[in-house]
Amino acid sequence: MTRLRAATPGCARSAYFDNAGSALPSEGVTRTVIDHLLLEQRVGGYLAADRASCRLESVYTSAAGLINAHPDEIALVESATRAWDMAFYSIPFRPGDRILTSRSEYPSNALAFLHARKRYGVRVEVVPDDDQGQLCVDSLAAMLDRGGVRLVAVNHVPTYNGVVHPAAAIGALANRAGALFLLDACQSAGQLPLDVREIGCHLLSVTGRKYLRGPRGTGFLYASREVLPALDPPLLDLRAATWQDGDTYALQPNARRFESWEKNVAGLLGLGAAIDEARDLGADRIRARVSQLADRLRDGLSTLGDVTVRDSGAVRSGITTFTRHGRDAEELVKGLGEAGVTVATAFPSRARFDTRPDKPAEVVRASVHYYNTEAEVEKLVDTVGGL
Ligand SMILES: Cc1ncc(COP(=O)(O)O)c(C=O)c1O
Repeated sequence: MTRLRAATPGCARSAYFDNAGSALPSEGVTRTVIDHLLLEQRVGGYLAADRASCRLESVYTSAAGLINAHPDEIALVESATRAWDMAFYSIPFRPGDRILTSRSEYPSNALAFLHARKRYGVRVEVVPDDDQGQLCVDSLAAMLDRGGVRLVAVNHVPTYNGVVHPAAAIGALANRAGALFLLDACQSAGQLPLDVREIGCHLLSVTGRKYLRGPRGTGFLYASREVLPALDPPLLDLRAATWQDGDTYALQPNARRFESWEKNVAGLLGLGAAIDEARDLGADRIRARVSQLADRLRDGLSTLGDVTVRDSGAVRSGITTFTRHGRDAEELVKGLGEAGVTVATAFPSRARFDTRPDKPAEVVRASVHYYNTEAEVEKLVDTVGGL
């Protein structure tokens, strides 16, 4: 794991555990962004983009390589939300179509479901969790068997809990039922191996700024060649389509139909650098290191009498959530911050498809990355113990 640790950014005084919010970009990523901005300052944005065009093109290859897709199946966009929205709003829904989703769905995605319900008359149904707290595959199978499911849209790793939903099992069922499968991989990209062929998803959305350690304001969408012809982008500009004459246009033949012309070139080059670093380190190694640290953190927190680890699921990510009896999460986050430990407050109360009465309204979210050290984990546990 030497190389994983060697990638540790210079943050000696603070132990940084908000990787599910925004992970720390590496020196290489930051340098890539700054170098391009400096080039823009010298020669202007258009010429700088021309000079970087081969490298920008290679970001598609890098993103495709990360998830075992083809570069033509990648659209570079400004966030996971925009990637997800472009995919979702491209689906030509009909009244009565069923959308199946998870209890832990991200609020922006849930809002889009409700919007589609109002706009097209689709039905939105929430698949329950199993008794381990991950999406229940048997319930999903039964719900699919009732027919009429146009879309299964779930998050791989939610924002408020450490659970990893069983993406490949969900994909197998969705494919068997002839439903589209849209996977929100915002929190899993960069910490878990992702293979769209193995998972069986048709659409997948990714952000740059979280576990991938890319710049903010970057993301990408995967749209499989298989489903591309059936998708009608909700927005077109002169990147997404060609204006052929006064009356006609042609969509880009590939996933670039979901892009917009104007781009944060520096950010996207940084995203490419971040993806290349993650691929170079290896998804399996990253996952192993993140799991090891997260297990250590959960074990340590569990030894503190009045602390409850809130993560569910048979498989867990680096996102570790906990509460302490009688203390507000916000107060704990503040206390940890003052001790030089950066964590975040997460709000399960905002996941409104999760109607369990016993869920905590707020949790402390300490999301470990491979660059965290065992000593930082001890510091986090000791600080929580001492607060
Ligand atoms: C599961 C999940 N999906 C989507 C998003 C949205 O990501 P972005 O803000 O980068 O668009 C988040 C952000 O926290 C998330 O946790």
